[in-house]
Amino acid sequence: MYAVDQRVSVSGYRSKMQDRLFVLLALVLQIGAGAEERELCFQNFKFGVATAAYQVEGAWNVSGKGESIWDRYTHERPDRIFDHQTGDVAADSYHLVEEDVRLLVDLGVQFYRFSISWPRILPSGFSNKINPDGVRYYNKLLDLLNQHNILPVVTMYHWDLPQTLQQLGGWTNPLIADHFVSYARVLFENFGPRVKTWLTFNEPLSFCQGGYGGIEAPGFGASGTDDYLCAHTVLRAHGMVFRMYDREFRKKQQGNVGITLDFSWPEPLTTSKNNQIAAEIFRQFSLGWFAHPIFSETGDYPPIMRKRIDYISKHQHFPRSRLPKFTPQEVEMIKGSADFLGFNHYTTYLVEKNYQPIPAQPSFDYDIGGIKTQKDDWPKSNSTWLKVVPWGFRKALNWVRKAYNNPPIIVTENGVSTRPGTQDLRRINYIEGYLKALHSAIYVDGCDVRGYTYWSLIDNFEWTRGFSERFGLYEVDYASPNKTRTKRLSAAYIAKVAKTRCLPQSWTT
Ligand SMILES: *[C@@H]1O[C@H](CO)[C@@H](O)[C@H](O)[C@H]1NC(C)=O
Ligand SMILES: *[C@@H]1O[C@H](CO)[C@@H](O)[C@H](O)[C@H]1NC(C)=O
Ligand SMILES: *[C@@H]1O[C@H](CO)[C@@H](O)[C@H](O)[C@H]1NC(C)=O
Repeated sequence: MYAVDQRVSVSGYRSKMQDRLFVLLALVLQIGAGAEERELCFQNFKFGVATAAYQVEGAWNVSGKGESIWDRYTHERPDRIFDHQTGDVAADSYHLVEEDVRLLVDLGVQFYRFSISWPRILPSGFSNKINPDGVRYYNKLLDLLNQHNILPVVTMYHWDLPQTLQQLGGWTNPLIADHFVSYARVLFENFGPRVKTWLTFNEPLSFCQGGYGGIEAPGFGASGTDDYLCAHTVLRAHGMVFRMYDREFRKKQQGNVGITLDFSWPEPLTTSKNNQIAAEIFRQFSLGWFAHPIFSETGDYPPIMRKRIDYISKHQHFPRSRLPKFTPQEVEMIKGSADFLGFNHYTTYLVEKNYQPIPAQPSFDYDIGGIKTQKDDWPKSNSTWLKVVPWGFRKALNWVRKAYNNPPIIVTENGVSTRPGTQDLRRINYIEGYLKALHSAIYVDGCDVRGYTYWSLIDNFEWTRGFSERFGLYEVDYASPNKTRTKRLSAAYIAKVAKTRCLPQSWTT
């Protein structure tokens, strides 16, 4: 049944009854298997890997591509990038697309998640002029994937806004939503016959908070104001694209449209009531900010966000809340505007209540009401923020299940950074731990997860960390003219998992 299903199987919510049967079955199987080590397998499930346009493509100024905010930012602000590098060439996937697909075939994954560069398709940001070379490039990639029966999972926006639109204020300008809809229409028209799984946005929490409230591109650092404006436009744009797909394309193309949200698990620092409340507020402000308007029964922002930001804004003498308001029509338009949830998860934080008085300067970090830390003895990675805490993954998935009535989920990113080198046992260890947690979330707890994506296929440009942190199953030699890709041990591990849909019981290579 799944072999003929062109989608990454997300059609329709699994029923409550099916859920219970599932859990029951899982329990019976476990008891049957006794105490010895059982093989953990995933049924009706797909494995894939991911990349994003700016992080791998390179070719930033060739074949008619327009400038993106990340081109501008890395060129003008090398001081903001850890190793002062740019994505001008990156892994050169624009020229090495056959090589990348060869790696995917080697891994035997069922799908490939990649993103389309908006300025490569529409150099000026507007849809009046389409760049034929851009369309040709993604068609070539889709052809190659099709030849090898690898399903495409396509992100429309993975942070590389056309610079022309940034000059209009970027995502803080409500009109950008209309331009995004026009861009999405070009994508559905050109690629929709072959792409059945779409993600409108990748991690709006990160790019709104980081880009408009922090030091990711465009790097304005207007936390507590511009980040909320960004999110507001993005949520409207997402809903508008979903409704447009319903009206103009769904019948013909029969695909699914979702959104990828990132969620680090906020665990209370202690069991005190105040810290438990603080952790719950943290969840509402991070995942709930975007998930509540789309996936909850009532729609709109989480009530606690409305309440806190309205209150704090007032005390900071703002004439109106820093959190914009949706019209009742917009609440309805956005509510339910996803066929599935794309879920990115990497790590866990400990949260305690912030007792500081209201500061004069607005900030998201104050509004969120808690202070986050990590335990020193949690295993480290090559990224300061990324500690290895598999149990947080299971808790995060279960929170989503309970908060939003068990929506279908595709894990669209999970992964870990290491130093250069191909003997990456730490990466295998990370993946194994997180897949075990995922298995429990599905087969013990009943979370409706349909697929898992490892981030990333190859080493790539890690935003403000440049090339210093490596997430790839394949190492990229940036010094070589051909950006040589070399297989890491973890690639063999993922290949085994993708092929058998089971976790290898003992891993020795
Ligand atoms: C493209 O950018 C590179 C730097 O990455 C520069 O050397 C080259 O001259 C540029 N090409 C064009 C056509 O502007
Ligand atoms: C990651 O590795 C690079 C060297 O490849 C090093 O410069 C950097 O400090 C490391 N970062 C962390 C957080 O370990
Ligand atoms: C780079 O690739 C080209 C074309 O595939 C090949 O001829 C050349 O030998 C490669 N160079 C290196 C250093 O691998």
